[in-house]
Amino acid sequence: MPDALKLGFAAFALPPRGVLVVFCNDGLQFGPSTRHLLGDATDMVRKAAAAERFKGKLGSTLDIVLPAGLQASRLVVVGCGQASDLKGADYLRLGGIAMGKVPAAAGDAMVLAELPGGAMKAEHAADLALGTRLRAYSFDRYKTKQNEDDPKAGSAHVTIGVAEPGATRKAWAAREAVAEGVALARDLVNEPANVLNPEEFARRATALRKLGIAVEVLDVAAMKKLGMNALLGVGQGSAHESRLVVMRWNGGKRGEKPVAFVGKGVCFDTGGISIKPAQNMEDMKGDMAGAACVVGLMQALAKRKAAVNAIGAVGLVENMPGSNAQRPGDIVKTMSGQTIEIINTDAEGRLVLADVLHYVADRFAPKVMIDLATLTGAIIVSLGQEYAGLFANDNKLSDRLIKAGERTGERVWRMPLGPEYDKMIDSKFADMKNTGGRFGGSITAAQLLQRFVGKTHWAHLDIAGTAMGSPQTDINKSWASGWGVRLLDRLVSDYYED
Ligand code: BES
Ligand code: MN
Ligand code: ZN
Repeated sequence: MPDALKLGFAAFALPPRGVLVVFCNDGLQFGPSTRHLLGDATDMVRKAAAAERFKGKLGSTLDIVLPAGLQASRLVVVGCGQASDLKGADYLRLGGIAMGKVPAAAGDAMVLAELPGGAMKAEHAADLALGTRLRAYSFDRYKTKQNEDDPKAGSAHVTIGVAEPGATRKAWAAREAVAEGVALARDLVNEPANVLNPEEFARRATALRKLGIAVEVLDVAAMKKLGMNALLGVGQGSAHESRLVVMRWNGGKRGEKPVAFVGKGVCFDTGGISIKPAQNMEDMKGDMAGAACVVGLMQALAKRKAAVNAIGAVGLVENMPGSNAQRPGDIVKTMSGQTIEIINTDAEGRLVLADVLHYVADRFAPKVMIDLATLTGAIIVSLGQEYAGLFANDNKLSDRLIKAGERTGERVWRMPLGPEYDKMIDSKFADMKNTGGRFGGSITAAQLLQRFVGKTHWAHLDIAGTAMGSPQTDINKSWASGWGVRLLDRLVSDYYED
């Protein structure tokens, strides 16, 4: 949970006990303050490095228990490679690696934010802190017994030793808001679907009101009135009612057009009548990761008082088989007036988004609109779990997302859109069908979404591969990654704040 770790900043110092983490380059050199604090122990570190063949490569670690000459219970040396060319995302990773070396039992730890060239800049030390915070996240709400081999990291108290505690705390304030947004997104994705149904999801989004976010919840009757039959058709087989949540954060200039974020919130995706195989179906509790990211992002923007007008909208449904479930062959009329023939009830995310995208474009006329969705298994086949698929009708927005992706490490890879793909979703009976066959499955899905955004500058992120079950990284050991919160927060701060 987000509060597991107590994190603070202080001037460089040795910890009285507990873990000491220091950084070196691939020449085994330390910064001046680190050298001073290690004192005579420096020589012992060199010998230990030689014995362990530790070369200081970026991300490698050297662990010394009860280091002679120091009071610390453990000294951890983390390699930074060519320390001079570290980037923002590298500091995050180093923070994660450092945190991974703090055993729960150790209690206290000091991480010296210094490189051979000198103290890390406040911004970089704050990135390091963000990495430790993200790494410390765990979802153990439903574990009733302590695991003795792997005790909860609950009581750790980590101090980041910095040159300028004041400036670093200032840089940390905004990042702490982002860290809490990531934790919220992870919590929502990790939460099981018997707890987190559309109504409960909407309730949790409503909690953002206390931060000054306006939250509207539209129920089934309200959506019927608007003509959102594509979204409602997906949810009609479930005992849980569908919801649409619209969040507004007005931190920007009055009257300035908003940036809009739209999330797929399928709280559980059985596939419906076109039911999925049993293997790994439990993962489909995470089919609301797009919506979770939007909620986490809105919380982050509000907590750091971002100078932007932002809309977050999430379509919340449960896709179930049942006597009232939608059938293959059914035709639904969307809010936009366009009709869709259902070929496969498992291609439900695009149906939900068709109505929400149209609604947001129509009501708010946003300057840009970005949707996130665990939309297709095909994007995992294309890109694996390293990149999210990016589709856009606007090159500038696309370039900005790619840049923000490189800066945060939440990377996106642009995929094509084009009228050539339209014939694949032509329907015999309606304006379009909801699947385009086996080829280019992520593209035909995006091509369908594009029909509901009008002239809005729009980008679609297919996060089926990155949102969950990802190979665990240095900054995440949980199943859900919270992917997209950092990326979009960065997009906003770099390009859309006043
Ligand atoms: N939620 C799934 C996509 C998905 C798959 C997300 C694996 C995360 C991990 C989506 O609703 C879906 O079922 N897509 C189908 C579309 C097909 C029926 C055209 C798919 O990808 O197989
Ligand atoms: Mn599906
Ligand atoms: Zn789905």
